Amino acid sequence: MSRMTAKSLAAMVIIGLALSAMAVFAEDAAPAGDPTYIGANKCKMCHKGEKNGNIYETWLNSKHAKSLETLVAKGEQNNAACLACHTTGYGTPSGCGADTTMHAAEALGSVSCEACHGAGSNYKSKKTMESKEASIAAGLVIPTEATCKKCHNDKSPTFKGFNFEEAWAKIKHEVPDSTVKTQ
Ligand code: HEC
Ligand code: HEC
Ligand code: HEC
Ligand code: HEC
Repeated sequence: MSRMTAKSLAAMVIIGLALSAMAVFAEDAAPAGDPTYIGANKCKMCHKGEKNGNIYETWLNSKHAKSLETLVAKGEQNNAACLACHTTGYGTPSGCGADTTMHAAEALGSVSCEACHGAGSNYKSKKTMESKEASIAAGLVIPTEATCKKCHNDKSPTFKGFNFEEAWAKIKHEVPDSTVKTQ
C-alpha cells in the first residue's frame, strides 16, 4: 500500500468516525427548546396493539377521547372556559386551538395522552422513551392524583366529586411485562 493511499484511507476513517459520532450525538440529544404537543396519533405508533397493552385503544374508547364531542353536543365547542378542560394544551402555542389540523380527537381535540403525560416533542423518540429517567428529563409526566384534579375539580360545571382509585380503574392502562415493542 502506498503512503498516499494509507494517508487518505486514514483520513476517510477519521471523517467517517466523526460523521457517525455526530449522527449518534444528534440522535442522543433531546431536542432543544420548550416541548410542543404532538397528538395522540403520534404516541399510537408505539403504544397500540395487544402486545403493547392496547394503551392507545383503551384511551380511544374512554370518555376522555370524546370530550370535545361532548361540548359539540351542547353547542359549547367555541367556549374557551369549557375547552380548557375538554381538550389538550388549550391556550398554549402548540395546544388545541392554535393549529386547526390538530383539532381531531386523535390529536388534541380531546383529553389526549399529553393532557396527562405532558407535551411529547422532546421525549417521543424511541431512544429517549426507553429510559424513564431520560423521558422525565425531556418532559414526560408520570401522572398522579394531582394531575387529574387539574380538571376533576369543582370548577367543572358537572362536578360530583372525584375518587382517584375508582376513576383510575376506569381508564387504567399498562405495558405488559413493561416492554414496548415498536412496530
Ligand atoms: C385535561 C383535563 C383532564 C385531566 C387532566 C383528567 N381528566 Fe378525566 N375527564 C376530563 C373530562 C373533560 C371528562 C369528561 C369527558 C366527557 O364525558 O366528555 C373526563 C372524564 C373522566 C372519566 C369518565 C367519567 C365517568 O363517569 O365515567 C374518568 C374515569 C376520568 N376522567 C378519570 C381521570 C383520571 C383518573 C385522571 C388522572 C389520571 C384524569 N381523568 C385526568 C378531563 C380531564
Ligand atoms: C375545571 C375543568 C372543567 C371545565 C372548566 C369544564 N369541564 Fe366539563 N367536565 C370536566 C370533567 C372532569 C368532567 C367529567 C367528570 C365531571 O363531570 O366532573 C366533565 C364532564 C362534562 C360533561 C359530561 C357530564 C356527564 O354527566 O356525562 C358535560 C356535558 C360537560 N362537562 C360540559 C361542560 C361545559 C359546557 C363546560 C363549559 C361551560 C365545561 N364542561 C367546563 C371538566 C371541566
Ligand atoms: C387521564 C390521564 C391519562 C391519559 C389521558 C393517558 N394516561 Fe397514560 N398513564 C396515566 C397514569 C395515571 C398512569 C400510571 C402512572 C404510574 O405508573 O403511577 C399512566 C401510565 C402510562 C404508561 C406506563 C404504563 C406502565 O406499565 O407503567 C404508558 C406507557 C402510558 N401511560 C401511555 C399513555 C398513552 C400512549 C396515552 C394516550 C393514548 C395515555 N397514556 C393517556 C394517565 C393517563
Ligand atoms: C418511537 C416509539 C414511541 C413513541 C412515539 C412514544 N413512546 Fe412512550 N414508550 C416507548 C417505549 C419503547 C417505552 C418503554 C416501555 C418499557 O419497556 O418500559 C415507552 C414508555 C412510555 C411511558 C412509561 C414511562 C415509564 O417508564 O413509566 C409513558 C408514560 C409513555 N411512553 C408515554 C408516551 C406518550 C404520551 C407518547 C406520545 C406523546 C409516547 N409515549 C410516544 C416508545 C414510544
